[in-house]
Amino acid sequence: MTEGLMDKIVSLAKRRGFLFPGSEIYGGVGSTYDYGPLGVLLKNNVRRAWWEAIVQRRADVVGLDAAIIMNPKTWEASGHLQGFTDPLVDCKGCKKRFRADHLVEAHIAGMPGLKEDQISIKDLKCPECGGELTDIREFNLMFKTSIGPLEDAASTVYLRPETAQGIFVNFGNVLQTSRRKLPFGIAQVGKSFRNEITPGNFIFRTREFEQMEMEFFVKPGTDEEWFETWKQFMLDWFVELGVKSDKLRFYEHPKEKLSHYSKRTVDLEYEYPWGWGELWGCANRTDFDLKQHSKFSGQDLSYRDQETNEKYFPYVIEPALGLDRSVLTFLLDAYEEIDGGRTTTTESAKETETVLRFHPAIAPIKAAVLPLSKKAPLTELAEGIRKTLSKRFMVQYDETGSVGRRYRRQDEIGTPYCITVDFDTPEDGKVTVRDRDTMAQERVAIDELSDLIGERCAL
Ligand code: GAP
Repeated sequence: MTEGLMDKIVSLAKRRGFLFPGSEIYGGVGSTYDYGPLGVLLKNNVRRAWWEAIVQRRADVVGLDAAIIMNPKTWEASGHLQGFTDPLVDCKGCKKRFRADHLVEAHIAGMPGLKEDQISIKDLKCPECGGELTDIREFNLMFKTSIGPLEDAASTVYLRPETAQGIFVNFGNVLQTSRRKLPFGIAQVGKSFRNEITPGNFIFRTREFEQMEMEFFVKPGTDEEWFETWKQFMLDWFVELGVKSDKLRFYEHPKEKLSHYSKRTVDLEYEYPWGWGELWGCANRTDFDLKQHSKFSGQDLSYRDQETNEKYFPYVIEPALGLDRSVLTFLLDAYEEIDGGRTTTTESAKETETVLRFHPAIAPIKAAVLPLSKKAPLTELAEGIRKTLSKRFMVQYDETGSVGRRYRRQDEIGTPYCITVDFDTPEDGKVTVRDRDTMAQERVAIDELSDLIGERCAL
């Protein structure tokens, strides 16, 4: 199943309108992707599910939506201007660019027993043409632009490489306006930009992407316990949304490889078709960011405990997730092919059937309304049902082709329920609801449809 899975996902995504290559008519640009009519629904649903779990259902987390362009001092304070770099090498022959650390990792993966510190980039050749590689240069990943009409050093600004800093600089504002006590979190979803040297694997690594981040502020000393809580939360969230637990695991970053701000980092990894990869990172950022912003801005971002009168900089636990990477994970995990098909109608039997087994809460379309004839009164009844349901859910109406074909079209985009309006419907006011996964069919009164779909598509 893993074989060729990425190609199948990329092709399905394009064919059914989940994702298109960005600016495709001009030949695309730098690994960008555009979300199509179904993709935008899926992405919105994933974002909503995260927001609901992290903000709406918790009394200890509030939301924020900070600007993408921030005062450049932010990036001095955070360390991004100096240290947000990747080690880059060029091939002197074919001129291709690589991340030096990725070349080293790939090299040692093929040579069991060899350790990273035992090899140098000078020992390696270009993986594409065998050519000689340049020395390593550190390449800053932040996109630079300028604000206002003059392009000079004073007008230089950056597109944010993480949403987190918008949260830290607003810590004081949120504290004052929302009367929060520790522990509490601030969450936000938004675009981040990184001039990645090697974007790739479809929407796994791109230069423009959306992050869903939460900074949870705690009293120092309670940070390790909270770290465990959020680590578990990350795993539970994906499992509750239907991702197979044997495809998920934790990876603990070795101490010597931690980012400059981190005391501990654990990634929730997913087993992608090319191997295990980071899906959601959890970092203990200590009091690094609040202290740095206090120093650089001259504003005191420490916290006063009103009960003990103690004053200190809170520690921060940060679960940081990529929205696009989550969408890719849900697509890959939901994909299933059934050789020979599941339906028994003669024309659609014996073909390979594709089903996206999305959790109903994230499925782009919740229900499809299928009249068994293209004539009134069935079409009028079906249109009435579509109209009523569309007040609460994304629904589709489809009257073309056999009902088996129509089921397949919906299975392929992950629609959990198909509602058939048949020749008995005008008599008994009932329709047949077919379940995407079990294919069980039940007779339901039209008046009860909206609540039934609502209950079954809830989180
Ligand atoms: N504030 C911490 C931070 O940004 P990160 O591990 O660099 O940490 C968090 O990013 C998450 O954002 C990752 O786990 C991944 O899901 C997503 N992400 C990072 N870089 C990405 C890229 N170039 N394309 C898509 N998603 C990315």
